[in-house]
Amino acid sequence: MKIAMIGSGYVGLVSGACFADFGHDVVCVDKDARKIDQLNANIMPIFEPGLDMLVKTNVDAKRLSFSTDLKASLKGCDAVFIAVGTPSRRGDGHADLSYVYAASEELAAAIDPKTVVVTKSTVPVGTGDEVERIIREANPTLEFAVVSNPEFLREGAAIGDFKRPDRIVVGTDVEWARETMRAIYRPLFLNESPILFTSRRSSELIKYAANAFLATKITFINEMADLCEKLGANVQDVSRGIGLDNRIGSKFLHAGPGYGGSCFPKDTLALLKTAQDNDSPVRIVEAVVQANDLRKRAMGRKIIAALGGDARGKKVALLGLTFKPNTDDMRDAPSIAIVQTLLDAGAQVHAHDPEGMEEASKILPEVVMTDSAYAAAEGADAVALVTEWDAYRALDLAKLRSAMNGDAMVDLRNIYRSNEIEAAGFRYSSIGR
Ligand code: UDX
Repeated sequence: MKIAMIGSGYVGLVSGACFADFGHDVVCVDKDARKIDQLNANIMPIFEPGLDMLVKTNVDAKRLSFSTDLKASLKGCDAVFIAVGTPSRRGDGHADLSYVYAASEELAAAIDPKTVVVTKSTVPVGTGDEVERIIREANPTLEFAVVSNPEFLREGAAIGDFKRPDRIVVGTDVEWARETMRAIYRPLFLNESPILFTSRRSSELIKYAANAFLATKITFINEMADLCEKLGANVQDVSRGIGLDNRIGSKFLHAGPGYGGSCFPKDTLALLKTAQDNDSPVRIVEAVVQANDLRKRAMGRKIIAALGGDARGKKVALLGLTFKPNTDDMRDAPSIAIVQTLLDAGAQVHAHDPEGMEEASKILPEVVMTDSAYAAAEGADAVALVTEWDAYRALDLAKLRSAMNGDAMVDLRNIYRSNEIEAAGFRYSSIGR
């Protein structure tokens, strides 16, 4: 199969490299010439474990290439994937579809007959209809199909998720387009990954419903954690106790500082907007969005409480800034609201993150970035573990403690045990225990 991927961002690049690894002939296109030059020099624009090797292997095997020339890249393609960004539109929270529609207009005149146009970007229900309308208007006699094929990749684990998915969702009623999609994903269902064919609208909604459900699970356990603190219960036991029920499932029940990242916050908001526009309220998701927003600042207040209630002139060290480990992504990271709360209360903030400090310093210029967890803790009144990077799991706790001025340790991810932390001389607080 010959495939063009429009948009060489996170989703486009990972999907393109994985399709090439299956043996397909893939060209990843992007308007950003600098990004394409970098990719041609095997410099990855994002941090994703394993991606540079995967790209190199497939470029060397001549199955994967990068280009800024969309028209030329579309020649002879069986499928064109649209994997451009759909950020939250400023002001109203709707997904901004201008990049998707611009790509549709551009490809309309240039695709061969019987090309499958696939929306990989997360797009609100009905976007496939509009993409189809745009292409048909520009090229009325062309035979083509518009298919929805959402991605369920987690940053930091994207290649594994792509190659061993729980399911592949393909939304179209056009039989020849289903055949093309089957051929593209054939290596995966040889691996027994289920492929689910649905209507285009159902497929578009599946993506939002999945993310909203996962965000709900996280928010549910976060609120249980707060309740555990009041009741003297342990949220990790509660989580295990409910997760062993197969109907509930054990995943996504880790209490923490609230979800962040490029998907959950944006997709839950977009689902709310769709629901409002269609006069079909999703009250649970509304509550989830609100609870998660409130939680991030509450985590800042939790750190202030550990300082004795007054943060003025105090120094706080944050370990981890990215929204989760194994990424340099700072989008909607809880650390942002936490830092803001600490600064508003008069604290100074020092921080360390294994991959995220460059991104973080653009968003949080007031934070002093340091070379190590120990350097961040130097003279600090409190240390707060914000992101559960593996590098923080085996810290020399005595060394960390002796670098500090105060003795507070706030563990927002529950990665330490109270006895080991207290043995090192810390006053320890964590989430829901
Ligand atoms: C998510 C979805 O998992 C993925 O299927 C979708 O395609 C994109 O959005 P991602 O944003 O990479 O992926 O991160 P994920 O690992 O799902 O974590 C999201 C957030 O939830 C992080 O801030 C994480 O720390 C938090 N989280 C996750 C919890 O607080 N507790 C959990 O139990 C799980």
